[in-house]
Amino acid sequence: MDYKVCNSDELPNNSTKVVNVRGSDILVCRSNERLFAFDNCCPHRGASLSKSDIKGTKIICYMHDFEYDLNNGKLLHVPNKWKDQNPNWTKSDNLLLFPVSEKDGEIYVRL
Ligand code: FES
Repeated sequence: MDYKVCNSDELPNNSTKVVNVRGSDILVCRSNERLFAFDNCCPHRGASLSKSDIKGTKIICYMHDFEYDLNNGKLLHVPNKWKDQNPNWTKSDNLLLFPVSEKDGEIYVRL
């Protein structure tokens, strides 16, 4: 089901917005004119991704700098500074993505 999360003008290019849909915090962003929507909770250790940097189609979590691909949610990179950590600590699921669309000046996320 599609849920309206905001008006288009509330999400200008290269901006983000946290919305709550059915009890879940979802981060919607417009990066280089493309829309993305994903769980605001980092799949590594749960940091709020709204505090993180988005670079094109990647997000780099502010907490430990893990990098995820916004096209498919996959973990792309774990920084070398964590290479001595227990391998269990550096494990991460992929980012949970949601379909997002824009129609008639409104943005929708599908859950
Ligand atoms: S909590 Fe996001 S990289 Fe660790």
